[in-house]
Amino acid sequence: MTLYRATFMHTPENPFSTPDALRVQEDGALLVEEGRILASGSYAEVRVLQPRAEVVDLRGGILLPGFIDTHVHYPQVRVLGGLGMELLEWLDQNTLPEEARLSDPAYARAVAREFLSALAANGTTTALVFGSHYACAMDVFFEEAARTGLRVVAGQVVADRLLRPELHTTPEHAYAEGKALIERWHGVGRILYAVTPRFALSASEGLLDACGALMGEFEGVRLTSHINENPREVETVLALFPSARDYLDPYERAGLIGRRSVLAHNVHPTGRELAAMAAHRCAVAHCPCSNAALGSGLFPLRRHLEAGVHVALGTDVAGGTGFSMLKEGLQAYFMQQLLGAAGVPLGPERLLYLATRAGAQALDLHELTGDFSVGKAFDAVYLRPPEGTPLDIAWRHAATPERALAALFTLGTAQDVAGVWVAGEAVFRAQAASQEVRS
Ligand code: GUN
Ligand code: ZN
Repeated sequence: MTLYRATFMHTPENPFSTPDALRVQEDGALLVEEGRILASGSYAEVRVLQPRAEVVDLRGGILLPGFIDTHVHYPQVRVLGGLGMELLEWLDQNTLPEEARLSDPAYARAVAREFLSALAANGTTTALVFGSHYACAMDVFFEEAARTGLRVVAGQVVADRLLRPELHTTPEHAYAEGKALIERWHGVGRILYAVTPRFALSASEGLLDACGALMGEFEGVRLTSHINENPREVETVLALFPSARDYLDPYERAGLIGRRSVLAHNVHPTGRELAAMAAHRCAVAHCPCSNAALGSGLFPLRRHLEAGVHVALGTDVAGGTGFSMLKEGLQAYFMQQLLGAAGVPLGPERLLYLATRAGAQALDLHELTGDFSVGKAFDAVYLRPPEGTPLDIAWRHAATPERALAALFTLGTAQDVAGVWVAGEAVFRAQAASQEVRS
């Protein structure tokens, strides 16, 4: 049994519908056994329950639930920084040539290691990962993910038109390779499988139907794809599916949309699409850094919330600008500010929720992770800024915990991540902070 002593914060309730949803425990403790939280409260209260439990002393920083990134591309870690293009040109020039290199499993393994290390170093404990077009690159990815201990929901990306010929499959192959990968990996350790058509632009009806067949056959697999990201992309999709009502329609017709579906972007939705998404209870991964970098547009969060569509956050590496969910939260805040009256105010408790609990909900993993309620897994990130940095200074002078959390989203980076745990296992430990993170 281990007792983690720390000031911790979390959002077990939804701050978009519940006032004062930020829970703060100063000098608190979480008692953890076999990776699960057994008790939580002040250090004094919890200590008496188990006076002999080993104590990990995390005073001096803030402990948060591990971040949950609901949209991030594994094969794109080496092409971060491709600025100056919109989506379709960026795919063609910056991204798809690199994705083709993952046909070599040794190359794919090196990329997988870089990718997974970056997730952990940024405090991300669970990720919905857009995979590679190659089944062999997914095998090496899942092998590496299993070694890290991170919670990973991922799948082979499939497309059968308009990319590059070497990235194209057929409906028959997509089904057969997907089935084999699901049978090998879904539910192994902390891995879950996500059926992943790249986007309707690169998918025939037959390919979407093959994805639908996998969804129908395998209980519990997730679905992820892109939708309504860029006006030129939307126009192309509507031309490719002339009888479709909108971008969502081909996905719905193939049986892809439900409670365990997460669609990235949705910057340009119609009212019909938002109503249908709410009815299907699917989630949207909002990726504000990507939306800004690719000039995709300002995400209509208010319309999503008013329609009852669940929204979480994603970094969208490499359309986005890196792995930090703190930066992603700040960018979400900026973009809602820029929308003026049409925007939604994103106070620090909403940013924390979007980066943690909302992601767990989107992935239907909220019974397991996303906050520090008793019974949940101990998935956590310990933030402790180096002395004298602007965040350290802001924390020393923060008038309230809310102000400290706002300063974290404003100033925090990977350099402030001192330790990361999944189910009580350390998956990242900063070198310089080794004295602080004792276990
Ligand atoms: N749409 C289709 N593929 C991609 C991708 O790799 N990144 C983004 N942002 N949008 C996409
Ligand atoms: Zn994406």
